This record gives sequence, C-alpha cells and structure tokens, in this order.
Amino acid sequence: MEVVITRDADAAAEVVASVVARAIRDRPAPVIGLATGSSPLGAYRRLIERYEAGELTAAHASAVLLDEYVGLPADHPEAYRAFIRREFVDLIDLPTERLFGPDVTSDDLPDACRRYDRLIADLGGVDVQLLGIGGDGHIGFNEPGSSLASRTRIKTLTDTTRSDNARFFEDDEYDVPRHVVTQGLGTILEARHLLMIATGDGKAEPIARAVEGPLAAMCPASVLQLHPHATVVVDDAAAAGLQLADYYREAYAHKPDWQSL
Ligand code: GLP
Repeated sequence: MEVVITRDADAAAEVVASVVARAIRDRPAPVIGLATGSSPLGAYRRLIERYEAGELTAAHASAVLLDEYVGLPADHPEAYRAFIRREFVDLIDLPTERLFGPDVTSDDLPDACRRYDRLIADLGGVDVQLLGIGGDGHIGFNEPGSSLASRTRIKTLTDTTRSDNARFFEDDEYDVPRHVVTQGLGTILEARHLLMIATGDGKAEPIARAVEGPLAAMCPASVLQLHPHATVVVDDAAAAGLQLADYYREAYAHKPDWQSL
C-alpha cells in the first residue's frame, strides 16, 4: 500500500484526479469505479475542469457505481446514480449509457447483485476504483463485520452510517434508507488499482485503523492491505493518527521517476 500525504484537501484532490485522468488517457476502454460521498468531489471537479479545458475526454470510458440505496424512487436526488450524474458524469463526455449500477428496482435483488458482478467482469474489470472511507471504516457500504471475501449483495446500514448520511436527507436520519446494495469487499479487491481519498480530522481514526491496524472485518477498509496496488491519499489532518507518517512522506518525496502512483 502506498500512502500519499498532502498538505490539504485540494492537493489530495489533485493527486487523485491525476491518477484517474492518466487511467482514462492511457487505456483504450477504461473502466472507472466511482464512489459517492463528499470525499471524491474535489477530484471530480478537477476532472471536469480538465474536460472543459479540452485536456481530457472520457468518451471511450465506462463507469461503475460502488453502491446504491434500495427503496429510493429512481428520480430521488440522493440516489447514488443521480448523485454521480449530477456531480460528475453529466458534466463530462462519458456516455450516460455506459454508467452502470446495480439494478436496485429488481424484484429479485440477490439475482440483480449476481448480475452486477458479472457485468463488471464482462466489462473487463475495473481499472481504477475510487473509494472514500466511512467513520466506522466502511468502504462502499460494507459495514463492520462484512466478509472480506464478500460479493455484491444487500446490506443493512448501521445507525452510525444512517446518521452520518442524514446530512444528504435534510438531516433526517429516518429518511436515509436502511438497505443498500454494495459491491462486496471481494468484488472491490478485483479492481486493478484501489484509490482511496480521505481528508479532514474526522477521518484520522478510520484511516489509521485501515492502513496500520490489523486486517479485520471490524474495519472493512483494512482489506486494502490485501491489494497489490492500493493508494491512500490523505491530507495532513486525516494522516494525524498514522504512526509511519514521516516514512510515507519521505518515501513519496523520493519516489523514483519511473515509478508512478
Ligand atoms: C457513504 C458511501 C461511501 C463513502 C462514505 C463516506 O457511506 N457509501 O462510499 O466513502 O459515505 O462519505 P464522505 O466522503 O462524505 O465522508
């Protein structure tokens, strides 16, 4: 795992945007895994700016959602598909028909989950998977206790996550759906590059557990420790709990030219 510590959230967003832009530019049919939440928004904005400046096209790319609420009307603004379209996909030239998510309206959700894993495999797998981290260490909506080998499936949100996400539902946690479909931890691990972004002191504790704590279902993000190419981009505030912060800074400052993120 590589940990990149930046001085602030803007610099973290720039690092993440550069990695995603390179993947889009270098591959003939890139598949980008998109995360919701506030953490990746700065990176999305930078990618939109590059597109508007004529420096980036995603016309040949596909995107897959990490997770989705169950039970929201399809046109609900906080449905993750709507969120990602509004904040990113509709603002660049990635074709809307190549934005994929699990079919949460299916009468047979377990089958829809299996179909989603097959779809990702049929696309050739995810090249770069963006990830945020929840306060309890979740990634996607894999709450603590999730199997480290889990596939896309239905999950029940914890009260902590519903209360964290209430800010998107006019601060009413009762409006936050209880059920979701999320790519499993095993599904996420199949992406070729995992790229996590976390900023602010509220993320210091979960980042320390994910990066330097034991590999444990109690901290689902610790599954990144199993991946051969995982990059964690944090600002100084989110890095505050890392024991090896000085080492990560030094390693990044002396990164050989031939070795990209
Ligand atoms: C939600 C999403 C996660 C995201 C998390 C953190 O639970 N399902 O993918 O990482 O929120 O959100 P934020 O980045 O707003 O802190």
